[in-house]
Amino acid sequence: MKKLLSVMLVLTMVLAIVGCSSDKGSGTTTDQQGTKEIVIGANIYNFGDNFMNGVVSPALKEYADAAGVKINIVDSENQQNKLNDQVDIFIGQGVDILAINLVDPASASTIIQKAKEANIPLILFNKEATEEGAMAMYDKVWYVGTASADAGIIQGDMMVADWKANAKWDKNGDGKVQYVLLKGEPGHPDAEARTEYSVKAFDDAGIPVEELAMQPDPNWSTDGGNDKMATWLASFGDRIELVICNNDGMAFGAINAMKEQGVSIPVYGVDALEQALNHIADGEMNGTVLNDGKNQAKAVIDLSLNVANGKDPIEGTSWTLDDVKAVRVPYVAVTPDNFADFK
Ligand code: BGC
Ligand code: CA
Repeated sequence: MKKLLSVMLVLTMVLAIVGCSSDKGSGTTTDQQGTKEIVIGANIYNFGDNFMNGVVSPALKEYADAAGVKINIVDSENQQNKLNDQVDIFIGQGVDILAINLVDPASASTIIQKAKEANIPLILFNKEATEEGAMAMYDKVWYVGTASADAGIIQGDMMVADWKANAKWDKNGDGKVQYVLLKGEPGHPDAEARTEYSVKAFDDAGIPVEELAMQPDPNWSTDGGNDKMATWLASFGDRIELVICNNDGMAFGAINAMKEQGVSIPVYGVDALEQALNHIADGEMNGTVLNDGKNQAKAVIDLSLNVANGKDPIEGTSWTLDDVKAVRVPYVAVTPDNFADFK
């Protein structure tokens, strides 16, 4: 009798362990109560990106934890081919949702097709698909990001206001803004729209501009910003009156290059990273625009949870979807007057 009891005990334990272990790699898992755990297969296009790795990725983990959802986040190392393979692996593992940060915004259809064939819902985030009609290929694909142009509009308005308030910024007194611009990834909707709309704000205000130089950088990186700014300071020196940066990461590099040369030129970024707030506090940066990565991550998790539970993606949330199935989290101006609110 005693023996039978202990055999039964061991059996129960074995069953319990089997019950809570995952069935296939990191695919769907079942807990002791037999409820299905939702698994999200996710990536970041490049772990080297300040904004994606510093803000969005930790927030994805945080919100997934809070929601009791499992998320596996892999690094696509800025290679679209690598991402394609990672998606195949996630599909093989049987994940419930794919949350994908495209490497190449013009390769969305490849990923959408894979998700569609596997019948797995797909949430794209941060890099919006640029191929015509891509989002219409599949009824279970959505996008979470921003209205790209708004960052440029907000940054541009900030620069125009500051330019008007500081007559001495026009160093050569020709009434024109001689600027350099650090662009970020060519073809990225954020980089393209920010470039266009930040400069357009001067046109709209009737202030003529002269572009001394503009440099794309597929990595949006601090090192790239540093190198480029050092080169520009060497070639244009005092002629540069304004440094427009499409993200804070590149602005940090530009600030560093200026410090090395002992010069200070008005500089603006986008993202509102912690370090940018510190630079604004120190008077080394003139403004930035909050790119609300935390709420973008929250939206990704909210939508994932709903979709995995067979609900409407935005049910019970405060998000709205536009006509191309996108949630767009608003940008906010960050200036020397209000930066402390973002700390
Ligand atoms: C951010 C950049 C980032 C890029 C990556 C943009 O929205 O502002 O900092 O490098 O996304 O895709
Ligand atoms: Ca000038």
